[in-house]
Amino acid sequence: MDEHRTTRAASFERGAAVYQATRPSYPDEVVRWCVPHDARDVLDLAAGTGKLTQRLVAFGFDVVAVEPSDAMRAELERAAPDADARPGTAERTGLPDACVDAVTVAQAWHWFDPPTAAAEIARVLRPHGSVAVLWNVRDQATDWVARWTRIVHTGDSLEPSARVPVLGDRFTEPEHHEVAWSTPMPTADLRVLAASRSHLLTLPDDERDALLDQVDDLVATHPDLRGRTTVDVPYRTLCWRATRR
Ligand SMILES: C[S@@+](CC[C@H](N)C(=O)[O-])C[C@H]1O[C@@H](n2cnc3c(N)ncnc32)[C@H](O)[C@@H]1O
Repeated sequence: MDEHRTTRAASFERGAAVYQATRPSYPDEVVRWCVPHDARDVLDLAAGTGKLTQRLVAFGFDVVAVEPSDAMRAELERAAPDADARPGTAERTGLPDACVDAVTVAQAWHWFDPPTAAAEIARVLRPHGSVAVLWNVRDQATDWVARWTRIVHTGDSLEPSARVPVLGDRFTEPEHHEVAWSTPMPTADLRVLAASRSHLLTLPDDERDALLDQVDDLVATHPDLRGRTTVDVPYRTLCWRATRR
C-alpha cells in the first residue's frame, strides 16, 4: 500500500467517536443478502466501531470482530458488547484455520492489500464459507448530497472505493446486489460527518476548516437543508458476495 493510503487508513484512530456518532448502519436486507441464514460463526473484518457488528449480533450470529485501531475497537466494545472483539488486520487476523462460516468486510476492502487479505479470508473460512464485501454510498441523485460530496472530496486523490473486489481463484465470481435506503440525520451533523472522512482527517487544519465552512454554507443556504433540523440522507449499499471453492 502506498504511504498516502496507509496514512489515510490509520486516520480512523483519531476520528473514532465521531465515526460512531455519524456514520450510517446497515439495513436488514443487506445483512440477509450478505450472510447465509444458516451461518453460525461470522467474522466482521475491519469492524471499526461496530456499525455492522451490531446488526450481525442482532441477527443472532456468533460474531468475532477484528479491527486494528484501538480507538475504533474501544467504541465497538461499547456498541456491541456481545461480539468477541480482537486486534488484527485483514492480512493477519490472528484467527485459527477454518473457524468461521462467513466473513463480512464493510466499508474497508479499499484499505486492504487484496491478494493477502483474500488468502487470509480463505484460510479462516470453513469449506464453502462465504465472504461479503460492501459499501454504503450516498445517493448522488439528490442535489444537496452531490454538492456535499463535491465539497468533502475537494483535493482528494484517492479513487472512489466501492467496486467489485478481486478475490482470486479461491472464490467463486462475486455476485452483486444493491439496496436503496435512507436514514434521518440532524443537519448539524453534516459538518461532523464531513470532519470524520479520512480525507479531512489528514488535511492541514486551515484546509480542513475551509472545507467545513463550505459545508456550513451549504446547510445554511440549500433549499432542502435551510432551516431544517433533520434531513433524510439517501444511501445505496453496494454488496458483493462469493463462496470459498
Ligand atoms: C471506514 S471504517 C469501516 C468500519 C466498519 N466496518 C463500518 O462499516 O462502519 C474502515 C476500518 O478499516 C480499518 N482498517 C484499515 N486498514 C485495515 C487493514 N489492513 N485490516 C483491517 N482493518 C483495517 C480501519 O481501522 C477502520 O476501522
